[in-house]
Amino acid sequence: MTCTASAPGKAILFGEHFVVHGVRAILGAINRRVVVTSSIMDEPVICIRSSLGNCRHGMDEPVRDPRLRPVDYLAKRTTSASPHVEGLCIDIHSEIPAGVGLGSSSATCVATAASLSGLSGMYNKDAICSMAIDAERTIFEDTSGADCTACTYGGLIQYGRDSGFERVPLRGDLELVISDSGVTHSTDTLVRRVAVFADEHPDAFGSMCRRESALINSVLQCLRENDLDSLGDAMRENQTYLCRLGISNDTLDEMITISDSICRGSKITGAGGGGCIIAVARGPANDAARLLGEKGLDSFAVRIDRAGLKTDIPHISP
Ligand code: PMV
Repeated sequence: MTCTASAPGKAILFGEHFVVHGVRAILGAINRRVVVTSSIMDEPVICIRSSLGNCRHGMDEPVRDPRLRPVDYLAKRTTSASPHVEGLCIDIHSEIPAGVGLGSSSATCVATAASLSGLSGMYNKDAICSMAIDAERTIFEDTSGADCTACTYGGLIQYGRDSGFERVPLRGDLELVISDSGVTHSTDTLVRRVAVFADEHPDAFGSMCRRESALINSVLQCLRENDLDSLGDAMRENQTYLCRLGISNDTLDEMITISDSICRGSKITGAGGGGCIIAVARGPANDAARLLGEKGLDSFAVRIDRAGLKTDIPHISP
């Protein structure tokens, strides 16, 4: 028996890092997906095949590659909850570059949780999102849960660690330009770096959190009015806060300068330290991506994915 599920990646438009400290963030699912197929095996092994690596081990053995830990966690959680399942084989195909802040790990957790739940005919988005967040915690304990939420529900959302998520209505299609530094980052390390900043500068950090919150409120208004100029300005402002938190570097600063010269405004998306920047284009996002490519950036246009998690199993309400 097999079950296939897919989940989109995500981009954080505003509020990364601040969201870990209780400020709301705005995120969008993007039109690049991870597809996961899970199959029941008739021997007690877990087999994972993905572009990050392959593994095959017994039920009681730990997975060697730490990057495969979330998937191994979900597989073991499934076998211990379903005594009739001897073993599992999980195949992962991703269109999302790994480790650059576009949600490849969260989308993998969400699609894996859904394909494993689907093996027992279960498909409940809330339960899958919560399983995916538990899985992500095996590699990044302090996750705000924002990424898995965007990958599960799709569309554009605002997300608060305590308040959960709310959909942000979109007028038409929102196209954005992503530029990838090609440098992978460790979210965990960067989140710790910001925690140190917050400890050492509590007043400055508190005031930045308040300014970020006010910025997010004005961004919600820009999105309601489809005011792309102000959205670009808000990205430029958010970038100054991210620089202040110490998560930018020379490579990212240089990319931002190039991107700002062509687009309405740009900022880091995700944890920083490497990874990607995001921008609001002046015209069609594909044209901006091409112009940025001519200036040496690895850029591509993305659209907001409205579907979120998809599988062939019908949704079951709790
Ligand atoms: O792992 P990334 O690059 O997608 O960043 C996650 C966003 C953070 O706000 C830095 C952490 C979090 O859990 O929200």
